[in-house]
Amino acid sequence: MSGHGAPIPMMSRKGAPLKGEAHVPGDKSISHRSLILGALAVGETKITGLLEGQDVLDTGRAMEAFGAEVVNRGGGEWSVHGVGVGGFNEPANIIDCGNSGTSVRLIMGAMATSDITVTFTGDASLNGRPMGRVTDPLALFGTQSVGREGARLPMTIVGAKNPVPVRYTVPVPSAQVKSAVLLAGLNAPGKTVVIEKEATRDHTERMLVGFGAELSVEDTDEGRVITLVGQPELKPQTIIVPRDPSSAAFPVCAALLAEGSDVLVPNIGLNPTRAGLFYTLQEMGADLTFENMREEGGEPVADLRAKYSPDMVGVEVPPERAASMIDEYPVLSVVAAFAKGQTVMKGVKELRVKESDRIDAMAKGLRAAGVAVDEGPDWWTVTGLGVGNVQGGITAESRLDHRIAMSFLVMGLATNKPMSVDDGGPIATSFPIFEGLMADLGASVTRSNT
Ligand code: S3P
Repeated sequence: MSGHGAPIPMMSRKGAPLKGEAHVPGDKSISHRSLILGALAVGETKITGLLEGQDVLDTGRAMEAFGAEVVNRGGGEWSVHGVGVGGFNEPANIIDCGNSGTSVRLIMGAMATSDITVTFTGDASLNGRPMGRVTDPLALFGTQSVGREGARLPMTIVGAKNPVPVRYTVPVPSAQVKSAVLLAGLNAPGKTVVIEKEATRDHTERMLVGFGAELSVEDTDEGRVITLVGQPELKPQTIIVPRDPSSAAFPVCAALLAEGSDVLVPNIGLNPTRAGLFYTLQEMGADLTFENMREEGGEPVADLRAKYSPDMVGVEVPPERAASMIDEYPVLSVVAAFAKGQTVMKGVKELRVKESDRIDAMAKGLRAAGVAVDEGPDWWTVTGLGVGNVQGGITAESRLDHRIAMSFLVMGLATNKPMSVDDGGPIATSFPIFEGLMADLGASVTRSNT
């Protein structure tokens, strides 16, 4: 089930080499933050290149419910008239975040220190995911919450009337949790300090500084210590959203696996907190190069060129790299199936609480397609068969998870028999142009009933 309509069965098969340029959409993490920080600034924030995927649209709708004005000006241009830090109205209705963990967790943080009460819900995937990781630190500000068993949605958050600043060490490597605490700290007096033992994506920190907040980061023995001075006046910004490395992963991996391919994926952010997959692929022997390396908006950016790579080998991905490629393990496991030897992925417990249990979802589909997978609570291995040796010919469950659906569709471009997924609908959450973009490259990725 796509959660937003009838399931859309899809399939992919081996065919022509992939050629051309793949212009992937805007970064999902930065798009969410642009709308939320825009809503918390005073005045008009202008955004170019916003990802118009369902997850981000759900964040936009939520910001309107809190009183901001969110305007789609067409062609990827959006503007947000913000209400200022502490200016959120109480929404008149339940906030439905659909499939999006980033929406619900960041918005919970953003409203937690305002004197308002908000009820959140989502689709079956989101309502199964743990929210205690966010509500625990928010309680330290004075926020209350009531949810279903195991701190699951639907959940009501009662914002703190008189918030106090907090000092919090994030117990799991999660940019969503870190960001929720920082956004809550915006409307608390004094300094809020967040400590993360492992660096996770740092867009919230970078963008808060851009919006004029006083925020500093120090690397210490305790970890990354982030200090935010509360109750700033955020100044509206003009934001150009870079293209999403997590979406780039799909055409890049497709090109590595489909015989004869040569694909350019321009303008991809290589922020070190996001680029782990590309370095891993290079270690595996992928013909993947970074062209025209440059800096844009304070971030390293490059055009990625990926060519068919029949001689990749399995590698061990170190646990300390996990946070920088956490959304890319599903598609990495597909590439690993076509490499020679074993790929070992450790320190990846977080994969079990994403839009689906991503280790379980990939392991089931890979095994059914003839690939050996071994797994434990926080690790898994894929034993590669080499190109030309992966059978395929199955229908995998996408489990309301866009990245699972896209991973199996990439896989089908190189398996001996076509691969199908029961529902490609969730792809629209992060990569609404996936089907057309893959078709333009020459890939056979189609709806099964067409
Ligand atoms: C995100 C953080 C990550 C990632 C998600 C986007 C963000 O989640 O998986 O797709 O924008 O902060 P976690 O914080 O749960 O690791």
